[in-house]
Amino acid sequence: MAGSTTQTPLKSQQKCVAVFALVCCCAVLVALIFSAVDLWGDEEDSITEDNCSRDCGVSLVETLPLDLAPARGGAAPSLPLSLGLHALLGRAQRSLEVVSPVWELTAAPRHLAGGAQGELLFQRLLGLNARGVRLRIASSLTNSSELRTLAEHDAEVRYVNMSAITRGELKSSFWIVDRQHVYIGSGDMSWRSLSERKELGVVLTDCSCLALDLHRVFSFYWQLQHRDYIPSIWSRKVLALWGRQEPLELSLNASAAAAYLSSSPDSFCPKGRSRDVEAVQQVIRSAQTFLLISVTDYLPLLNRTYRGAFVARYWSPIDEVIREAVILRGVRVQLLISSWSHTHPLTLNFATSLTSLCVELDNCSLEVKFFERREDGKDVQHGLNHNKYIVTDNAVYIGTHDWVGREFSLNAGVGLALEARPGPGPRGGGLVERLGDAFRRDWGSRYAQSLKSHQGAGGHRPLSQHTSEPPGGHRHQQPAELRRHRG
Ligand SMILES: *[C@@H]1O[C@H](CO)[C@@H](O)[C@H](O)[C@H]1NC(C)=O
Ligand SMILES: *[C@@H]1O[C@H](CO)[C@@H](O)[C@H](O)[C@H]1NC(C)=O
Ligand SMILES: *[C@@H]1O[C@H](CO)[C@@H](O)[C@H](O)[C@H]1NC(C)=O
Ligand SMILES: *[C@@H]1O[C@H](CO)[C@@H](O)[C@H](O)[C@H]1NC(C)=O
Ligand SMILES: *[C@@H]1O[C@H](CO)[C@@H](O)[C@H](O)[C@H]1NC(C)=O
Ligand SMILES: *[C@@H]1O[C@H](CO)[C@@H](O)[C@H](O)[C@H]1NC(C)=O
Repeated sequence: MAGSTTQTPLKSQQKCVAVFALVCCCAVLVALIFSAVDLWGDEEDSITEDNCSRDCGVSLVETLPLDLAPARGGAAPSLPLSLGLHALLGRAQRSLEVVSPVWELTAAPRHLAGGAQGELLFQRLLGLNARGVRLRIASSLTNSSELRTLAEHDAEVRYVNMSAITRGELKSSFWIVDRQHVYIGSGDMSWRSLSERKELGVVLTDCSCLALDLHRVFSFYWQLQHRDYIPSIWSRKVLALWGRQEPLELSLNASAAAAYLSSSPDSFCPKGRSRDVEAVQQVIRSAQTFLLISVTDYLPLLNRTYRGAFVARYWSPIDEVIREAVILRGVRVQLLISSWSHTHPLTLNFATSLTSLCVELDNCSLEVKFFERREDGKDVQHGLNHNKYIVTDNAVYIGTHDWVGREFSLNAGVGLALEARPGPGPRGGGLVERLGDAFRRDWGSRYAQSLKSHQGAGGHRPLSQHTSEPPGGHRHQQPAELRRHRG
């Protein structure tokens, strides 16, 4: 009798343990499935971070639609972006992974001549599958006819529901070829990028280490298909290989350099992945004597919800490190912003505020110029300076975001930060010099107007046009609102 009473609880205890173990097993299995198996099972695993190539070739690629003087000292002009992309396609043997904010290669209006390059590139993309090259595309576009056509030609297209995840867009722009070669830059899969807009990017060849890490950014987008949230368990295959703290040591055109990739928004940065804004800050902070910045839009503002309404607040992370560089470290700063029909009227106020820092200070130099071309009736983006980069004494950053709070906070982007290491050969394989030359070419061109002349007769048009648009003195309301809600 006593035996049976002690036996029953023991049995049920055993059952309990068994069930518990089973549940544990299931949980572990589910976690495993979610963390690793979901995206790969893929080819090309043979190169790892231990045996990838760090001996890279580097080329600056640009689209230059305007008649800009060649770079200083008769240096060879940059490779045109379209040629750079075609060269990459020529190298492709197994795979091409593409992320682009738009797909408008064939969208050129009939009456404009510039569409041929886009058509040509699109046709070559359509032909990839026949050559045995897998084309994979991640995009946040819901209704793109070009993506539909590519999918019909056996491209794998995955949709990232950015509006559900961050209320933003997928603004990254890059290519990965055979997990060996990489393009990153302002130019995207739009006919404008190949012939109409001023674009700048970089092509790295035989650079599988960096390609491997960029592929992890791509894999991150890839696994977001059909999700409207960011999973809480990351696959190991999307974690960063290198970052701000521990960059990749590599050689570029045979000179030593350190590089890492950055990404945004914050929720798209798994462990170890540096954020775009941190990379921008680090490169600005590394400037010793000069800092050259070229961006389309500069607006340190971010809309936040405040008592149920959207209110523009000052977004300081980049603005303040520029001020620090000028005032505390005596760095000479040149900031080239585009002036076009979408320029926010407050841009001028922030530019003026920056330049006023140096009033009556010795050894203080901060200049702002507006890159402005005539917007003729044909295409408002013709010649638009779409570049987004920084050059300092020793480092460069090439990104895909404009310097507007919303971009870094909501939109997905990538950037490449690169620092030259001391050693023989030109700094950063010549990239630092070449980018500096490209900047000085634009800065000295007739399209770049100083802030003073811009406020005067010449460049007043696009900005003032905009200010008069919204009824009720939009322009004067916003700074007041800003003051009220600050702090
Ligand atoms: C790189 O290393 C991995 C695993 O260590 C190995 O499987 C692969 O064959 C190596 N690849 C090359 C090209 O050496
Ligand atoms: C998708 O695009 C096509 C044209 O490309 C257009 O006719 C259609 O209305 C669009 N659909 C939606 C839902 O926007
Ligand atoms: C994106 O997510 C939102 C919210 O979950 C949903 O309403 C919308 O239909 C999704 N879009 C697509 C194209 O799946
Ligand atoms: C903030 O929101 C307003 C209205 O929604 C919009 O007009 C403005 O451009 C936004 N500003 C920024 C900095 O995003
Ligand atoms: C300004 O720079 C010049 C040359 O670099 C230097 O000789 C001078 O001492 C500096 N002046 C101040 C106030 O720092
Ligand atoms: C690196 O070398 C290649 C080949 O010699 C050259 O075409 C390219 O312009 C060089 N890159 C830079 C940034 O100078």
